[in-house]
Amino acid sequence: MAKKTVADIDIRNKKVLMRVDFNVPLDDKQAITDDTRIREALPTIKYVLDQNARLILMSHLGRPQGKVAKEFSLQPIALDLAKKLGKKVTMADDCIGDSVKKLVDSMQPGEVVLLENLRFHKEEEKNDPAFAKALASLGEVYVSDAFGTCHRAHASTVGVTGFLPGVAGFLVEKEIRYFDKLLKAPEKPFTLILGGAKVSDKINVIENLLPKLDFILIGGAMAYTFLKSRLLKGIGNSKIELDKLELAAKIFEDARDHNVGIFLPEDHIIAQTISDKTRVRVSVEHIPDGWIGLDIGPRTIRKFQSVLKDSKTICWNGPLGYCELKPFRKGTAEIAKYITRLKATTVIGGGDTAAAVNALGLGSKMTHISTGGGASLEYLEGKELPGIAALQDK
Ligand code: 3PG
Repeated sequence: MAKKTVADIDIRNKKVLMRVDFNVPLDDKQAITDDTRIREALPTIKYVLDQNARLILMSHLGRPQGKVAKEFSLQPIALDLAKKLGKKVTMADDCIGDSVKKLVDSMQPGEVVLLENLRFHKEEEKNDPAFAKALASLGEVYVSDAFGTCHRAHASTVGVTGFLPGVAGFLVEKEIRYFDKLLKAPEKPFTLILGGAKVSDKINVIENLLPKLDFILIGGAMAYTFLKSRLLKGIGNSKIELDKLELAAKIFEDARDHNVGIFLPEDHIIAQTISDKTRVRVSVEHIPDGWIGLDIGPRTIRKFQSVLKDSKTICWNGPLGYCELKPFRKGTAEIAKYITRLKATTVIGGGDTAAAVNALGLGSKMTHISTGGGASLEYLEGKELPGIAALQDK
């Protein structure tokens, strides 16, 4: 059932407690290296402020394990948000307690407070009712725009809705709309591109999407487990998950039953060590011993492009090579560029894939680039995300 959004309720002049996912990457100087999640929360933030509401934002950053740690402070995000909004964002020194309550009580309509990292309190991840109640006491309504954290049943995503009526923000609404389209009514042909390190991370997504799919293209390290399971070619010293070989073989069977074509790499960019100074070679089919497959090769790029050419829906999760290093980025870059030129709905999973596509400057050319890594995977697995389930139905 569709969820109520912030546009469905009256928030004028109210205190709006809004969960966002400002868990953004920072470099060692505390500079934000990818601000997508902040930018994507802006439509809801601006809407709330236009309603003359008082906006209390809350988020986690990193995994500080219930302890206060300066490097996990949300302070740099408050500064960035203030620039983006062109108005002051007051940073609270905590997320609960007397001083925070006082600060929030003194807010004027149209003002913004950002609470300090929720995960400085271990009660957040434990979904502790007293902690959730203390958070809820800061607002009159609760808005969730933290799609990236909706797969976590924490105090700020679930617990708080036991004390305040909860509705979705526009980002959560948008993410649900695109993923539901893939799950329920994808325009055909529908191609799933999978990459990344582990078969185990993607297995449930494959199983859940198989009945809807036409093709699956597999790259990244996980491709070597699939290649090995077929005993087709030598894979040298490429990483594989030995305990997932049977599972990979079963996926081929299931795909055949559903008439879904699986395409694996036909050639590879290989190296003997994983470094950006290393000597690289292209190997066709067989990877010699002592060499590691680290990206798809030119023949595979062309093959994948020929499958994608007529696709009307494309969902992509996981880079196709070891993208952190320049010599192994080409496969991901060429496929990303290619799909931006197609007349297809292109939905990019969050996390590493979103980071790779954004680093190429192609984020805005995709139909939808998710702000959720784990959350988008779980959604595609067909799971109900607790942070969405807790919101009010329309
Ligand atoms: C993410 O980056 O996937 C979300 O912010 C959730 O973070 P977590 O995996 O630490 O819960």
